[in-house]
Amino acid sequence: MSLSHPPYRIAPSLLSADFARLGEEVHHVIEAGADWIHFDVMDNHYVPNLSFGPMICQALRPHAVKPDGTPVPIDVHLMVQPVDALASAFCQAGADLVSFHPEASAHVDRTLQVIRGHGKQTGLVFNPATPLDVLEWVIDKVDLVLIMSVNPGFGGQSFIPSALKKIEQARRLIEASGRDIRLEVDGGIKVDNIRAAAQAGADTFVAGSAIFGQPDYRAVIQAMRAQLAG
Ligand code: DX5
Ligand code: ZN
Repeated sequence: MSLSHPPYRIAPSLLSADFARLGEEVHHVIEAGADWIHFDVMDNHYVPNLSFGPMICQALRPHAVKPDGTPVPIDVHLMVQPVDALASAFCQAGADLVSFHPEASAHVDRTLQVIRGHGKQTGLVFNPATPLDVLEWVIDKVDLVLIMSVNPGFGGQSFIPSALKKIEQARRLIEASGRDIRLEVDGGIKVDNIRAAAQAGADTFVAGSAIFGQPDYRAVIQAMRAQLAG
C-alpha cells in the first residue's frame, strides 16, 4: 500500500518506562511527540508476567495530556484471562481504547459489546501464531486490529518477520470492510523496521524499549517519523 495512508500514530509502551516515575514518563514522552500511550496489562496467567492494573491507569489518566491540556488517548492492551471484568474496569479507569486477545475471551462478541457499552473503542489482538479468522465475524464491532510481532509478555524482544504478512492480510480485510479501523503493530518496532511495517499496511506503531531505552525520546520518535515520511 502507499505510504500516504492516514496520519501515523506512535504509541510508546509504558512497559519499558521507569515505573518509579510513571507520571513524569507519560509527560516526557508526550512532550517528545507520542500520539497515544500504550498500556500493557499482564496477569501472570494469560502471559507469564505481571504489570499494572486499572488503579494505575486511573492515576495516570490526568497526566496523559498535551501541554495545552488536550487529552492523549490511553491504548490499553489487555493480556489477561478472563477479559470482561477487567475490560470494564479499564473503561471506568479512563482508557480510550481497550484491546484483548480473542483466545482469552470465552465470548469475543460479548466482550466487544462490553467495551462498546462503556462508550470506548475496541481492539482485537492477534498473536504471531493466531489466524485472523474471528475478525470476519465481528469486524463491524472493531475499531482497532493489533498484530503482535512478538509473543506477548515482555518488552525488548525481536520482531517476528511473519507479522508483515499478517499485517498485509489485516489491511486487506479492513479495506474490504470499508470501516475506519486502525491497524496497529506491537513488538520489536524500531527505527530500522517501522517503515517495513508501514509498507505492509500498519498505521499505528507501539514501541517500548526503542523509545524508553534511549535518553532522548524525541530523537527516537522523530527518527521514526522520518522513516514513515521518507
Ligand atoms: C509485549 C507488549 C508490548 C511491549 C513492546 O507483550 O505487548 O507492548 O511493551 O515492547 P518492545 O517495543 O520493547 O518490543
Ligand atoms: Zn502491547
